[in-house]
Amino acid sequence: MTRQKALLLQEKHGPFAVAEKDIPRPGPGEILVKVEAAGLNPVDWKIQKYDILVDSYPVVLGGDIAGTVVEVGEGVTEFNEGDTMCVRGGFQHYAIVVAEIAAKVPSRISLEEAASVPLAFVTAAFGLYGSGREGETSRTGLAAPWQEGGQGKYEGKPILVLGGASSVGQYVIQLAKLSGFSPIITTASPHSENLFKSLGATHVIDRRAPSEQLQATIFPMLSSPLLHVYDAISLWETQRIGYDMLAPGGSIIVVLDRAIQIDEHSDKRFVRVVGNAHDLSQRNDARAIFSHLPVLLECGDIRPNPIEVLPDGLRGVIRGLQRLEESAGSSLLLVRRILTELHLSGSASTGHRIQCCATCAVSMDVENRMKTLTMFVVSCSCSMSGFRTMARQTFRISPCHREVSTSTRVSTRF
Ligand SMILES: NC(=O)c1ccc[n+]([C@@H]2O[C@H](COP(=O)([O-])OP(=O)(O)OC[C@H]3O[C@@H](n4cnc5c(N)ncnc54)[C@H](OP(=O)(O)O)[C@@H]3O)[C@@H](O)[C@H]2O)c1
Repeated sequence: MTRQKALLLQEKHGPFAVAEKDIPRPGPGEILVKVEAAGLNPVDWKIQKYDILVDSYPVVLGGDIAGTVVEVGEGVTEFNEGDTMCVRGGFQHYAIVVAEIAAKVPSRISLEEAASVPLAFVTAAFGLYGSGREGETSRTGLAAPWQEGGQGKYEGKPILVLGGASSVGQYVIQLAKLSGFSPIITTASPHSENLFKSLGATHVIDRRAPSEQLQATIFPMLSSPLLHVYDAISLWETQRIGYDMLAPGGSIIVVLDRAIQIDEHSDKRFVRVVGNAHDLSQRNDARAIFSHLPVLLECGDIRPNPIEVLPDGLRGVIRGLQRLEESAGSSLLLVRRILTELHLSGSASTGHRIQCCATCAVSMDVENRMKTLTMFVVSCSCSMSGFRTMARQTFRISPCHREVSTSTRVSTRF
């Protein structure tokens, strides 16, 4: 087979269209991946709307993907044919990716979950631990938990994560926990407080509270001067809050351009993250991040964001991007789904893959023979009760309807 389908952005501000293109062959250090799931990020609709980051059209946007290695290029030793991996790749059925900035997918993570990880996780990690050029790329000087002595190093030091519900914010909270930061204070919608606390946040403050109230609530929680703020939203208002709360000598990490006026003589620093693992000036950081990511996911130190899987493969990406755009910055139109805790009773054997129903978002591989298990399933069109057949087993599913409304990362299954 030499041809494949891809989602093309045909021209500047133009429409997306599914079209055919050649399947490329991997060069040295590259891998050809059969894409099985793709994760959508705000940057994907921003490229279409604002004509940013792209030099020429038509173009396949380089979205987050997860899939199976079908061919490795010369010099690639970390991956073999048949391995599953996640990486920045592209909305297409086959993608060429750079091996050293890809991660193997551990068996406890589904490919849909894995496809939601790369950009958001890299952005969180670059922002906290990046060693890029000051002023241009990320640089904080913090030691990463995968560096010697990095784990737990910042015990007793507070960090404020603005926008803990965002995809980037959820990874910042988890990394801050690994780094030992305490307290880890985040602003988010309070309905998902339990989720953020399970990721590592010690305090969850309602993000819609007026800024004076936010500051009055947060200051008494600080055990020592606030030197680290990660603003995962980086709108004018969040930058204002973060910068004002920062102690002298501290750093605010932002994911968008600086939006506020600052005192040029202040010794508070802005660190602008560019979560681009392909950027050669950040390649060493990216390599370290991707080489440690499989273990972090495998042992549960890093949990992927809750996801919703969209139908219709490549065409589903178009609708997903529209939804992401509609939800951006709005408190009313945010992408939210109800998570329902399901208790599954039955038994399955190692090697089986179980899934709630044909349209349900979450499936998982059975690693140990089990009688009952609990899992979170993103609400779908099934009734989520009664008997469902999964793989060759039948499970009794009883929903307890523990509703957790949260923002979701949208993935699409190819
Ligand atoms: N620089 C880079 O390389 C880079 C990389 C990735 C992303 N980004 C940018 O980072 C931003 C976040 O991206 P993402 O993918 O993490 O977003 P996302 O997952 O779409 O996050 C959206 C969520 O953020 C929360 N939120 C919205 N406004 C907020 C506010 N004012 N204060 C606190 N929380 C707020 C809302 O959750 P709740 O209502 O549930 O609280 C909303 O559902 C985007 O602008 C994106 O373009 C930049």
